[in-house]
Amino acid sequence: MRIALGSDHGGFELKQNVMAHLEKKQIEFKDFGCYSSDSVDYPDLAVPVANAVLSGDYDLGILICGTGIGISISANKIRGIRCALCSDTFSAHATREHNDANILAMGGRVVGTGVALDIVDAFLGAAFEGGRHQRRIEKMMALENL
Ligand code: RB5
Repeated sequence: MRIALGSDHGGFELKQNVMAHLEKKQIEFKDFGCYSSDSVDYPDLAVPVANAVLSGDYDLGILICGTGIGISISANKIRGIRCALCSDTFSAHATREHNDANILAMGGRVVGTGVALDIVDAFLGAAFEGGRHQRRIEKMMALENL
């Protein structure tokens, strides 16, 4: 499994902890920035991670900003992206199972590291269930053509 990661300055510290966690679990990843706690604009980080996932080079993405809101809204503007902002583990696995979310977003100023790492594990450990959810995803993705 290959994971594309990105954050703005508000998510920088949590992203460092997520990367250490992935490293420990021997999960391959690439950090698409930012690379310091200097202020940056979250849409600039959502785009490379979204493109990395859409290219097929990475299986899933993780995006982090202060709240997780700006970076998830930005990612969801990109055709083909289903980015789920999660602050709990139930949502994290349910969004893979039901929504086939391809990017997880979190708020670095919202969730503590312990919860965030559990959210990451729940998201990466779950799989899309298909069936009735497939029809719903097709309807959801058709909204991109409105
Ligand atoms: C940056 O200060 C902050 O606005 C950003 O990280 C995020 O919370 C936006 O949604």
